[in-house]
Amino acid sequence: MSENKSEALANLSNETRRFDPPAELAESANVKADAYDRASEDREAFWAEAAERLDWGRKWDQVLDWSNPPFAKWFVGGTLNAAVNCVDRHVDAGNGDKVAIHWVGEPADDTRDITYAELKDEVSKAANALTELGVEKGDRVAIYLPMLPETVIAMLACARIGAIHTVVFGGFSSDALASRVTDCDAKVIITSDGGYRRGAPSSLKPAVDEAIEKLGEDSPVQKVLVVRRTGQDVEWNDDLDVWWHDAVDGQSTEHEAEMHDSEHPLYVMYTSGTTGKPKGILHTTGGYLTGTAYTHWSVFDLKDDDVYWCTADVGWVTGHSYLVYGPLANGATQVMYEGTPDAPHKGRWWEIVQQYGVTIFYTAPTAIRTFMKWGDEIPAEYDLTSIRVLGSVGEPINPEAYVWYRSTIGGDKAPVVDTWWQTETGQIMISPLPGVTSGKPGSAMKPLPGIVADVVDDDANSVPDGSGGYLVLREPWPAMLRTLWGDDQRFKDTYWSRWPGLYFAGDGAKKDDDGDIWVLGRVDDVMNVSGHRLSTTEIESALVSHPKVAEAAVVGAADETTGQAVCAFVILKESATDDEGTADDELIQELRQHVAKQIGAIARPRQVMIVPELPKTRSGKIMRRLLKDVAEHRDVGDVTTLADSTVMDLIKDKEGSGSSSED
Ligand code: PRX
Repeated sequence: MSENKSEALANLSNETRRFDPPAELAESANVKADAYDRASEDREAFWAEAAERLDWGRKWDQVLDWSNPPFAKWFVGGTLNAAVNCVDRHVDAGNGDKVAIHWVGEPADDTRDITYAELKDEVSKAANALTELGVEKGDRVAIYLPMLPETVIAMLACARIGAIHTVVFGGFSSDALASRVTDCDAKVIITSDGGYRRGAPSSLKPAVDEAIEKLGEDSPVQKVLVVRRTGQDVEWNDDLDVWWHDAVDGQSTEHEAEMHDSEHPLYVMYTSGTTGKPKGILHTTGGYLTGTAYTHWSVFDLKDDDVYWCTADVGWVTGHSYLVYGPLANGATQVMYEGTPDAPHKGRWWEIVQQYGVTIFYTAPTAIRTFMKWGDEIPAEYDLTSIRVLGSVGEPINPEAYVWYRSTIGGDKAPVVDTWWQTETGQIMISPLPGVTSGKPGSAMKPLPGIVADVVDDDANSVPDGSGGYLVLREPWPAMLRTLWGDDQRFKDTYWSRWPGLYFAGDGAKKDDDGDIWVLGRVDDVMNVSGHRLSTTEIESALVSHPKVAEAAVVGAADETTGQAVCAFVILKESATDDEGTADDELIQELRQHVAKQIGAIARPRQVMIVPELPKTRSGKIMRRLLKDVAEHRDVGDVTTLADSTVMDLIKDKEGSGSSSED
């Protein structure tokens, strides 16, 4: 474990604050302490009971088939329809008038309340439209949309007809979209003319046009369905492009939903791994819906009259599990907001909380730290007393941010659930239960009932309390990924090969003296910037694709607001250096922009340093650990394994010479 990890461990063990569940919440909690015992006595029976929360066309014959690990099958033989579970059944139960989504557009007063009955009609119409466009069960549909009601409707319409959606975050570039569309062979792309961001319309459709042009004759895309959001001018290709309103509005609201096999693929979500090529995480229907519905109900203690708000973008897994499938399967009322927290003012989120009386609020530590920086006086202007449970996700939450969140947003009473999970796990895995757990700021505490997580050493031995190691999962769980799209071998190699029978999550963690888990962050070449996963290798390849770059190394350096920030060290081709052998600021900006263009703005390096050499071992492996020391302004650690021990002096000289650039 690296020096800074050990330092973090030492700091964390000084944390002694505890926050007990509020008595009233504990009293009426959906899940009480007995759930842990029940689940460990019979895990499969526990998950079968959770699956009963859903409506099944045909009940399963077998809860779990784990005869061919790591390929799991859950609720084998069962059939269900995810869209029916998320929408129709609530209408059938008499809750058609309940608001499913309070949609809040970024421009003031641009709102839309959508009831479950309306959502049912819209999803049915969209399902009919997709069928008319030639989309069939098993086909892939790429969804590249901002936070619009149509985004949710499109996802559910795909699920309804058994088409597999792959939502690509709207902040990703046309290149990233093109590679995902190719990888999963998407027949249709659903997009919009644009969306509102920080008070102005921003465009989206041009990126789709670019992606399709790039794919050229190999493009699998037969239709592009375009939602009109901003009304801005768009290029139009009559052979390909269809307006959403032309295709959907005139459709019938009747749509007979087929019951799909429990293991029928629901979606593919691409996420960064340790190589340049994103991985298509495959989730299927019955287990995924069981896992997300159960955890959304238990971890947030969801009640009928709650108003829930998850601020995550639908383009990430949190948006899939805890904005779309979990909450809607539970028939919740939720808020969905199109814009950024500072548009048109820095109190916008709290204004929305006040306006809709939000009771459960789920966001990321990076947002919490940003609000801390903006100052307590901003949330203090709003009535936040409706909030009763707070959630955190995406990266470790530092104790200061946790305590601020609890006191300033949660009125010193709302428990904070720090939820650890991943795109791969599909559902929350380690988290406090708000009516049971005495929370410790900074700790995700214990695996949820039905989940078996552990921290192990290099030899897969469970570490004793008080020690650190690698976070693993010992038993399959319902919402687990089933494979990587089109790459079973990579699925096995990435997650299951380090220790036989264990799922390796890629995170380091510590068990404290009580056995509670503190997740410390990635131990592989994956960065976590504002709760978003980025691969060092992917950014390195983007940099090297620039004609002036010879070699690049990227590290995630600690950052006060974003958790980690992208720092790049770049060696230029000789032809690209000027007379003095240094590059100017313009080139640095060009390189930063190049990465944003290749991958998306979230990957734009905070800092690019032009260096003459990179530190390498004798076998040629870049020693990122040393670069991280430089990026984090620390004394450089052990250099004895470097092929050339003077390299770090050259790099450190550069650090002070102004060849870096920050926003
Ligand atoms: O490193 C962990 C971190 O985010 C990674 C998963 O990223 P992604 O698949 O993009 O999913 C993010 C939303 C679930 C994990 O491997 N992570 C996520 N939640 C936490 C966390 N680290 C610490 N504490 C958390 N609560």
